[in-house]
Amino acid sequence: MPGILGLTICLIFVTRTVYGLDNGLALTPPMGWMHWQRFRCLTDCVAYPDDCVSEKLFRQMADHLVDDGYKDAGYDYIIIDDCWASRERDKDHKLQPDPKRFPSGIKALADYVHQKGLKFGIYADYGTHTCAGYPGSINHMELDAKTFAEWEVDYLKFDGCHSDILFMEIGYTLMSKYLNQTGRPMVYSCSWPAYQEPLGIHADYDKMQQVCNLWRNWDDVDDAWPRVTRIINWFSENQDRIAKYSGPGHWNDPDMLIIGNYGLSYEQAKGQMTAWAIMAAPLIMSVDLRTIEPNFKSILLNKAAIAINQDPLGIQGKLVLRSNKIDFWTKPLSATVDGSKSYAIGLLSNRIDGFPYRVKFTLAQLNMTNTNGYTIRDIFDSVIVSPIVKPHEVMYIRVKPSGAVLLLATPLPSIINVNSV
Ligand SMILES: *[C@@H]1O[C@H](CO)[C@@H](O)[C@H](O)[C@H]1NC(C)=O
Repeated sequence: MPGILGLTICLIFVTRTVYGLDNGLALTPPMGWMHWQRFRCLTDCVAYPDDCVSEKLFRQMADHLVDDGYKDAGYDYIIIDDCWASRERDKDHKLQPDPKRFPSGIKALADYVHQKGLKFGIYADYGTHTCAGYPGSINHMELDAKTFAEWEVDYLKFDGCHSDILFMEIGYTLMSKYLNQTGRPMVYSCSWPAYQEPLGIHADYDKMQQVCNLWRNWDDVDDAWPRVTRIINWFSENQDRIAKYSGPGHWNDPDMLIIGNYGLSYEQAKGQMTAWAIMAAPLIMSVDLRTIEPNFKSILLNKAAIAINQDPLGIQGKLVLRSNKIDFWTKPLSATVDGSKSYAIGLLSNRIDGFPYRVKFTLAQLNMTNTNGYTIRDIFDSVIVSPIVKPHEVMYIRVKPSGAVLLLATPLPSIINVNSV
């Protein structure tokens, strides 16, 4: 009996994987908070008790996610990145947290996060060691998957430092199998293209979308605008190859949101939010939620920008026009009027001349062709830019230097019913 059952499960696994990783998770891009970009590997809790990577930090961030409206906006994962573990595995070879910084243990932290109605994520590494030198999973993948399931982990970021890039495809696939075998659905975030693509190796995205829910495509983000723009540029340069692999359950991941930290101006922060919304990127914040300035917070909590990102179709938007150093991106949305699609339009400025540049374009240039026209709304300023714009009508929008404008274009129906207006 167990033999027959085992065979049946195995056959289902084999036949179903063709359609993508089937764990029912990440049907829209995951949203949450992760510590790396803002807190890195700060482990000295004596000198820096409020900023060190510790259970206290994650509890506080969980509190803020709930109390400050982030959870209601959709940010529901608290994710630990590297530097949580002890330098040694325990006597049974299990990963264990640093006892000084996580005295209550990971399960207790997961319980705390779950009690708040949030989900809990953790970090491990496919190689011999994590990027910061903590124990890697290469010889313990099955055990680590089981340990994470015991701790009631909901999301695993599986990094790829100190491993052989030629074996990543096999290793990440195996870990996906072990996670599945625990019976606990866990979002599985892979890093293998982030190691292959910068070397010019085209990762196998067909394979990846069968085993991972999201994957870091390329280099890490850092706290500066040029680090954000080089990621955006890599995504546009490779969009025809990679965009089609994003969709419900499987996402390209350009890395964390750095909005609210030291490196981005308010305009640039809108730029990152615009690009991430259009690209259907995971919205994983990495900012000190205890001290974030209200203007940055309002960008992260912008409902309409989040709705564009979380659109159920999950289409990754593309760069469609470059004009006078302004990049025009569009993302088709699920909402339609008389069969015509709505679009999000992102204008990202690569200009540095210090005035809001007036760029001229038509919707037809952006492949938007509804002959009845569109209503155009500016998402961040929450204003109607124009109630009716026909596809070939010339439009002017002012974009601030190294800034962005995010627009929503809603098609107009063929007959406007005067009584209902
Ligand atoms: C494991 O994989 C099977 C087949 O793809 C799927 O039906 C099931 O939901 C998965 N379970 C978990 C816990 O991911």
